[in-house]
Amino acid sequence: MIKNLNVALYVTGSIAAYKSLVMTRLLVKAGANVRVLMTDGALEFIQPLSFQALSKHSVITNHSAGMDADQITHIEVAQWTDLAVVMPADANTIAKLANGIADDVISTTLLATDSQKLVVPAMNDHMLANPATQRNLATIKQDGIAIIAPTIGFLAEGYAAPGRMVEPELVMERIQTLVKLKQTPPTHSLRGRRVLVTAGATRQPIDPVRFITNASSGKMGVSVAKAAADLGAEVTLICADVRVSIPAGIKVVNVVTSSELQAAVLQLMKTNDVLIMTAAVADFQSVRVQPQKIKKAAQSDTFTLHFREADDILKAVAKIKRSDQYTVGFAAETNDLRENALKKLRSKGLDLLVANDVSNPQIGFSSDDNQVTFLRTDHAPIQTKVLPKPAIAEQLVDLVAQDLNQK
Ligand code: PMT
Repeated sequence: MIKNLNVALYVTGSIAAYKSLVMTRLLVKAGANVRVLMTDGALEFIQPLSFQALSKHSVITNHSAGMDADQITHIEVAQWTDLAVVMPADANTIAKLANGIADDVISTTLLATDSQKLVVPAMNDHMLANPATQRNLATIKQDGIAIIAPTIGFLAEGYAAPGRMVEPELVMERIQTLVKLKQTPPTHSLRGRRVLVTAGATRQPIDPVRFITNASSGKMGVSVAKAAADLGAEVTLICADVRVSIPAGIKVVNVVTSSELQAAVLQLMKTNDVLIMTAAVADFQSVRVQPQKIKKAAQSDTFTLHFREADDILKAVAKIKRSDQYTVGFAAETNDLRENALKKLRSKGLDLLVANDVSNPQIGFSSDDNQVTFLRTDHAPIQTKVLPKPAIAEQLVDLVAQDLNQK
């Protein structure tokens, strides 16, 4: 997919510039042709020779350009580029991009390239929070430039705060997605839509150290969140216990219990257009969570724990759902799949229900693959093949996008 892709890697002034060496290596290893361009700021942190050795091409800087008539010029690089990656992107370069400023060779090349662009910011937390930077980021996003938001992490300043650049492996993942979407553009889009996804297993406490839960890994939910983001949606993922990594660019809210999940869902439904409930939510909770650890000695051979039904989140959502909102539930069934799933479609007031036969360990909790049936009122059921969870997620969000666009 990346093989023979012409990538122009713009390295700007940040301590994170050393990570762009790893990025160059990853791209070259995947078969891409890489040309590196460095701002004066970047040259303060790292030597062009390192990039030259890894990319096997001379590096373009404000000082090198035009020096050698035999060398490819920066304007040729602009035209040669399939994908321009600005990594790390400092506040100054983002500001130039947002305002069309071309006052040196690097910013001129960036302005002259009409290829797809990916910006990976890294900066001090105050610079990032500055309204001017936020405005500039919003502008470049509106211009169609992909951005991988920095994370909260240990900054060069010596404290943890938002502004830390994401790791090259995550950037590579996003590059692969961008290339895939360009090669096979999806039929439907979720651009301009806000999508709320839930993933993973809730934990219902019994005492301070014990809880009941289930085997959901979060793979299905994270795949759905990524697929929705790939179709252009602004995605918020509510994570109960999730055991897989979450792609960059997705907003994450962490919860533990089903009541925390319910509170987060009801709050976020005020601002989201779509809800996809993939999470495996507890149906029961302790009548009384013991304040102290239950002691073995206090029990006879057998003992009884009392549970009551937990609130049904989707039923609570159905009560506040607006007519322009779209809700999707998953039904994890071990028997009478269609019949039980259809009951859930109606009783939970859903637009779409994904029926999931979890009696087969190859396609259920924690598995890499899944096979599901999409059920909607007034539509024939659609059964998928056994496919990796990301492929099932793509089919699901495509169907959601199709329905929304017809609404
Ligand atoms: O995470 P993985 O390991 O990848 O596994 C994926 C999965 C098997 C968990 C997923 O594909 C799945 O089937 N999720 C739904 C699990 C579930 O809780 O199913 P259910 O049939 O019990 O509930 C039906 C729907 O009601 C679900 O959308 C659920 O989120 C929702 N629910 C359940 C209980 C509750 N108290 N409130 C709810 O809203």
